[in-house]
Amino acid sequence: MDKNTLSITDNRTGKTYSVAVSDGTIRTMDLRQIKTDAEDFGLMGYDPAFMNTASCRSAITFIDGEKGILRYRGYPIEDLAETCSFLEVAYLILHGDLPTEDQLNEWADQVRHHTMLHETTKKFLEGFRYDAHPMAMFVSTVAALATVYPDVRKVLDPEVRARQIARLVGKVPTIAAYCYRHSLGYPYVYPDNDLSYTENFMNMLWKMVEPKYSANPALARALDVLFILHADHEQNCSANAMRAVGSSQADPFLATAAAAAALSGPLHGGANEEVLKMLDEIGSVANVPAYVEKVKAGKGKLMGFGHRVYKNYDPRARIIKWTADRVFEVTGRNPKLDIALELERIALQDEYFVTRKLYPNVDFYSGIIYKAMGFSPDMFTVLFAIPRTVGWLAQWQEMLTDPEQKIARPRQIYTGQETRKVVPLEKRVAHAVV
Ligand code: SDX
Repeated sequence: MDKNTLSITDNRTGKTYSVAVSDGTIRTMDLRQIKTDAEDFGLMGYDPAFMNTASCRSAITFIDGEKGILRYRGYPIEDLAETCSFLEVAYLILHGDLPTEDQLNEWADQVRHHTMLHETTKKFLEGFRYDAHPMAMFVSTVAALATVYPDVRKVLDPEVRARQIARLVGKVPTIAAYCYRHSLGYPYVYPDNDLSYTENFMNMLWKMVEPKYSANPALARALDVLFILHADHEQNCSANAMRAVGSSQADPFLATAAAAAALSGPLHGGANEEVLKMLDEIGSVANVPAYVEKVKAGKGKLMGFGHRVYKNYDPRARIIKWTADRVFEVTGRNPKLDIALELERIALQDEYFVTRKLYPNVDFYSGIIYKAMGFSPDMFTVLFAIPRTVGWLAQWQEMLTDPEQKIARPRQIYTGQETRKVVPLEKRVAHAVV
């Protein structure tokens, strides 16, 4: 007998089936053969929120949740954050290998070539109220870009795909900066292609009347590291959205907008903004124990804690904590850090959090850094979306070129009404709303 199989006995019929095991999984389609009779549809797997379902094969990012390991294309995140630039890592994630110097220069030129936005984008942005949430503006504007490029729907053409990828990687910082400037009522700042990816982003955010913007190198490097840490994270909620929307062969701008919409939720990328609100609510180190007790009583969550995959310290949180010290050397120490450190200290020794394996995740410290750098909390998730656009596009491209993939269309367990007849309108009576 082939050892790499499961023998499943259906006690309803006494029949036994052999199902292949590969890569630690069974194909749930192999369960469909298990039927009670010829009319039976056959067994399905039931897995709300995909807690235990592999949706694809991917070579992009590897995570070991128990050991707190994160690698992009085999390279440990710690090494990449220490030695590479974000554009180098973006190339790695998209192409599978770190670029040579020539390849990096060509890639940087491609991205720089696409930093400008079509002028109609400004008119589009003017339609938003001054107090519109930047993430809602970001999602809408990324989607609107699909109206500017006639070739955008040719998703099966590798050259067109590569052009759209360079366009999106080049333009998301510009869109983010324009959303930020719009919310402040400031004029838009055009990209300055003499600057690096993150320096140019800072230029478009913060340049005022000076003839040329000069970024603080320590802050520019800190932002580059933060972008590296946020670039991809295998099949998270927003990557799943990107793959699902992309599986219908929707264009990459609309798929990226859908992924960014998923990221905006407070349980996902919106958590960094919620962490700042939580630290503001706590107010002081002295109030931390009472807040922790409130969470343990089920009244709210410790935002920035916990993870579906990491049941150990999120390796990105450790690097972000180190980066915070570099930023505070420039900006001065943010007092919220003391509250966050006390919150972490208490939580890491409290049985409630220890038994649930709740550790700080990527969002716990990032918001404190962004705040210290001068960003308003409603911009934090936009700062997550910029680098994660690279990961979404890599996942999208991998999905489109995977011969096993097709349009995503899950099944369901139907729990609704059986067949019933329509009652004429005049004879209907109101039922209690279920
Ligand atoms: C990101 O998936 C990714 O890779 C995402 C991400 C990426 O890079 O793409 O890493 C980015 O989204 C990080 C997560 C940011 N979200 C937050 O910080 C929000 C707070 N965290 C939780 O909402 C929660 O931890 C999740 C959403 C992150 C994970 O939720 P799960 O895996 O569904 O876990 P769960 O809700 O089933 O929790 C298990 C238990 C529950 O207690 P019991 O019902 O067993 O008593 O742990 C508790 C939960 O109540 N719990 C928390 C908690 N997170 C889980 N209790 C208090 N505070 C928390 N933060």
